[in-house]
Amino acid sequence: MADQPKLRLGVNIDHVATVRNARGGAYPDPLRAAKIAEKAGADGITAHLREDRRHISDADIEGLMEVLSVPLNFEMAATDEMQKIALRHKPHAVCIVPEKREERTTEGGLEVAREENKLAHFIAPLREAGSRVSIFIAAEPAQIEAANRIGAEVIELHTGAYCDAFAEGRWEEADKELSKLREMSSFAASLGLEVHAGHGLTYDTVTPVAAFPEVRELNIGHFLIGEAIFLGLEPAIAEMRRLMDAARDA
Ligand code: PXP
Repeated sequence: MADQPKLRLGVNIDHVATVRNARGGAYPDPLRAAKIAEKAGADGITAHLREDRRHISDADIEGLMEVLSVPLNFEMAATDEMQKIALRHKPHAVCIVPEKREERTTEGGLEVAREENKLAHFIAPLREAGSRVSIFIAAEPAQIEAANRIGAEVIELHTGAYCDAFAEGRWEEADKELSKLREMSSFAASLGLEVHAGHGLTYDTVTPVAAFPEVRELNIGHFLIGEAIFLGLEPAIAEMRRLMDAARDA
């Protein structure tokens, strides 16, 4: 539909840093990847500074703030250390994610409903500093309502359960997860929240999510960096951009 707002693509460059850190040197350089992503049609760059610094480093965040022409979406856990870093850099957006040291990737969404008070106090200074605050949550009404109550402007719906079910051929479950994502993006938008989505998206799973009219941004990383090994980073991102635009126009 032509009158729908453009669906933004945030390219997550964490795993360029994962490859760099495997040898501890300076390459591949995540900043170079970010500049290529901009050229390929990324509307934003996403980077997750984890507590254990397993991929993105403090210096990467500093560098991204200097070189990017598109907004930085800074993913972080709700810790005092990360809050200080975010308040120093004042990135365009801050996405609050749950974080466990032992996990391989961000498993599940943030438990906003259980920690409403604490999170409301945590995000207030970030908002005052001018960052748009996004909360990474599961597609559940209680989490969405709580995110709204604490004053978040954006929610990012976790697409991992849908993508995992799809990848493992559990079609019924994939459909069920997709329906939940569809209903919850429309519920969140009805509360006035801006809706983003991401985690585990691939060329095979992106189309139905990109077609949800309420979704304004997708954040995609691991698959694109993997695909870049075969296609190159710019064509890999351009193909994702093409699929997203096609889903939107259908
Ligand atoms: N959105 C959020 C909040 C994330 O934590 C991640 C993973 O860091 C992504 C999107 C991107 O997920 P993937 O790398 O699986 O595409």
